[in-house]
Amino acid sequence: MKPFSIAITGKGGTGKTTVSALLVRALVDAGQVPVLAVDADPNANLHEALGVEVHETLGSMREEAFREHIPPGMTRNDFIALRFRQAIAEEQGFDLIAMGRPEGTGCYCFANDLLKTCMGLLGRDYRFIVIDNEAGMEHLSRGTIGVPDLLLIVSDPGARGIRTAVRIRDLARSLGLSTVPIRLVLNRSRGSRAEVAPGVLEVAAVIPEDPAIEAADLAGTPVGLQEPGSPARAGVGQLADEIVKMAQGSQRS
Ligand SMILES: Nc1ncnc2c1ncn2[C@@H]1O[C@H](COP(=O)(O)OP(=O)(O)O)[C@@H](O)[C@H]1O
Ligand SMILES: [Mg+2]
Repeated sequence: MKPFSIAITGKGGTGKTTVSALLVRALVDAGQVPVLAVDADPNANLHEALGVEVHETLGSMREEAFREHIPPGMTRNDFIALRFRQAIAEEQGFDLIAMGRPEGTGCYCFANDLLKTCMGLLGRDYRFIVIDNEAGMEHLSRGTIGVPDLLLIVSDPGARGIRTAVRIRDLARSLGLSTVPIRLVLNRSRGSRAEVAPGVLEVAAVIPEDPAIEAADLAGTPVGLQEPGSPARAGVGQLADEIVKMAQGSQRS
């Protein structure tokens, strides 16, 4: 079964990492395992949000190592898969891989190439892939993360935020993601939200402003480990249920 991949995008600071971490946990709690969490932001912090240690990122792997130091008897792809497995943090119900930052002034191409190859090699094991992106469309425009099955745009619930989300949607479409379902996630809602004109963007979830998230942030504890009753966790739990239904629908069709 092909994994169902969800790319989380949006302006900086809207809550992409928070929503990604809560979504990974919610999918695990719903028994939709294993999940692969991909931190595709060079300022990698998804692992902190999930309370996971990362020792190596794809960006820190040097291209030369895969040309010149391949152990005897191994193909390049075997070696890449081996290194990829070493960079993966394995947790209960989910794995995490961080793209990191490319070495020196080097471009991202190699890390991108690696991730693509590795997704091809390993992706099949996962039921869901949750990709926390940086603000901007780097990975989507390069096709690094492939074409996701669902694109979530995280926004604050205000009119300006929603207008920005619509621009991100248009950008995504112009990048050739015209067939990908795109949904809005309104985060940090305080009960009221701006109207989203019908047909503009479908709202997948409204996540409440949650003091427990802020408290976890201040304390430096994982936001992915919110109490089950926490409003944000409950909101993302509903989002996860919706996504599971979408995935089952796309599996059937
Ligand atoms: N639902 C929420 N309730 C309260 N604070 C939130 C919520 N979502 C995000 N935050 C806070 O907003 C800030 C930015 O969130 P983050 O997930 O890091 O955004 P991004 O990854 O989009 O840059 C963090 O301090 C985080 O704790
Ligand atoms: Mg982030």
